[in-house]
Amino acid sequence: MQQHSALGRVLAVAAAAALTAGDYFKARLAAAKQVKAKSSPADLVTDVDPVCERLIREQILARFPDHDILGEESTESGAEASARAAASRAGSPRLWIVDPLDGTTNFVHRLPLSTVSIAYSERGQVLVGVVYDPYHGEVFYGVRGQGARLAAGAAMRAWADSPGGDPPGERLRASATESLASCILATGFPTRAPSRTLATHAGFILSERVRSMRALGSAALHLAYVAAGRLDGFWEYDLNAWDLAAGVLLVEEAGGIVRGLADGRPYTLTMRDVVVSGHPRVADAIIEALQAIDGGGAAKGGGMANAHGV
Ligand code: IPD
Ligand code: CA
Ligand code: CA
Repeated sequence: MQQHSALGRVLAVAAAAALTAGDYFKARLAAAKQVKAKSSPADLVTDVDPVCERLIREQILARFPDHDILGEESTESGAEASARAAASRAGSPRLWIVDPLDGTTNFVHRLPLSTVSIAYSERGQVLVGVVYDPYHGEVFYGVRGQGARLAAGAAMRAWADSPGGDPPGERLRASATESLASCILATGFPTRAPSRTLATHAGFILSERVRSMRALGSAALHLAYVAAGRLDGFWEYDLNAWDLAAGVLLVEEAGGIVRGLADGRPYTLTMRDVVVSGHPRVADAIIEALQAIDGGGAAKGGGMANAHGV
């Protein structure tokens, strides 16, 4: 990995910002929080989420004052507004895509499973991605064309503060498992009722065909774990750009694949329904299995797949 390149400097800022925000919310896990519902009773935000986003913005803009930032907490809430914001900014020449606290429901319930997700893109192509899990002190990061790695938080902090050599960490490789029956897959339950119904049907269908299923409550953590080969695959409906961008780069750079859940199309910053896996046959099998929902709705863009409406 070329630490002196422009992308090396972006990586250092992304890693430092992720470490600052993640360590901040980790320290607040047990404390009393103000909790509000956003677009639905299941879509929560706390007083900590916007503080984390501010910490990240300050670090990005101190180093790159002319860069654009698409952050969850500074975007109008709700799927339609989020989709519009992603569509209008996707082509930006230098865009950071930030979820300052992915796994807010876990955070509210004091479950230590939340991440920071920070991506950097140019004209729609994600070039750098960082997902930080402060509870395990794990920094998953990748640079387009240079692979994905996992580093300890302390080592990454030392490198980001003074990026003078190669960044630390072990290379990530996604799972080579081909057979669905041998897979552990993960999914998530969207905050909107129609999408959640769809996700529940999908879970029923797939749970009978796999070794086991997980729902850890952070899409970015699921993606990082697919990149690390800890999970064989992940799918979810109705995600936002900031849930996906960094983790998608990790999966791709770890040799995995990313596809649209409805039609298998390639990833773009506006994608909301996604499937990722280490081996392509697993993603194919997930897409095929979910075609059964509502007479083919998920894969053909009709029926229940349209119920979440974006
Ligand atoms: C949520 C998490 C969760 C996923 C939801 C997301 P947030 O993000 O990624 O795993 O199932 O769809 O909205 O709101 O905690 O940042
Ligand atoms: Ca999120
Ligand atoms: Ca969030």
